[in-house]
Amino acid sequence: GALRVLVLGAALRTGSTNAQLASLVARMMTEAGADVDLAAMRDFDMPLYDGDAEAADGVPAGALALRDRLERSDAFVLSSPEYNASVPGVVKNAIDWVSRIRPQPFKTKHALLLSASPSLVGGNRGLWALRVPLEHLGTRVYPDMFSLAGAHKGFAEDGQLTDPALQQRLNETVTAFLHLVEADARYGCLQRR
Ligand code: FNR
Repeated sequence: GALRVLVLGAALRTGSTNAQLASLVARMMTEAGADVDLAAMRDFDMPLYDGDAEAADGVPAGALALRDRLERSDAFVLSSPEYNASVPGVVKNAIDWVSRIRPQPFKTKHALLLSASPSLVGGNRGLWALRVPLEHLGTRVYPDMFSLAGAHKGFAEDGQLTDPALQQRLNETVTAFLHLVEADARYGCLQRR
């Protein structure tokens, strides 16, 4: 069957440029034949991690819902803003809660990291920070990452990137990522759970 990819915009606000980038990549992957599940962090409402709450009530419904969407996917794409040169607390909190579930849902999943920011670095420092918990959890984080600088002016009416060279670069990154995930799904060339 088709590759199943969860594409997650990591910001909560409406009008998020990361949500725009997630939508664009979801469309590109759908056109490439993938079975895409487009999601937003808002779909996975959860409290701040608290060991007492976990002991009393277990993992919250929002984290379990995110686990379910991950489990139904061969890979995930995360488009995340950079806050103060690092991972937004909302994203880290979700990773922390989900990491408490067994089997641990991030283990052996392929991931492509994207970021969008109005700044000139495009949020790329946040992605290097995001690699740390994900790689710790055994996610196969794709080496190439894509960061959209000037994101507030980065999207055309049709949702494509305004810069054709950047759009081309995004095409290449997405295509190469899908080929890797497909090769793993087909041949099991990378060790699975
Ligand atoms: C930011 N922003 C930001 N941008 C950046 O490029 N580097 C940074 O370190 C930060 N730091 C930062 C901290 C906090 C607390 C906020 C609220 C914002 C700006 C950020 O990139 C901008 O708000 C983006 O538009 C957020 O992404 P969405 O919401 O458009 O997806």
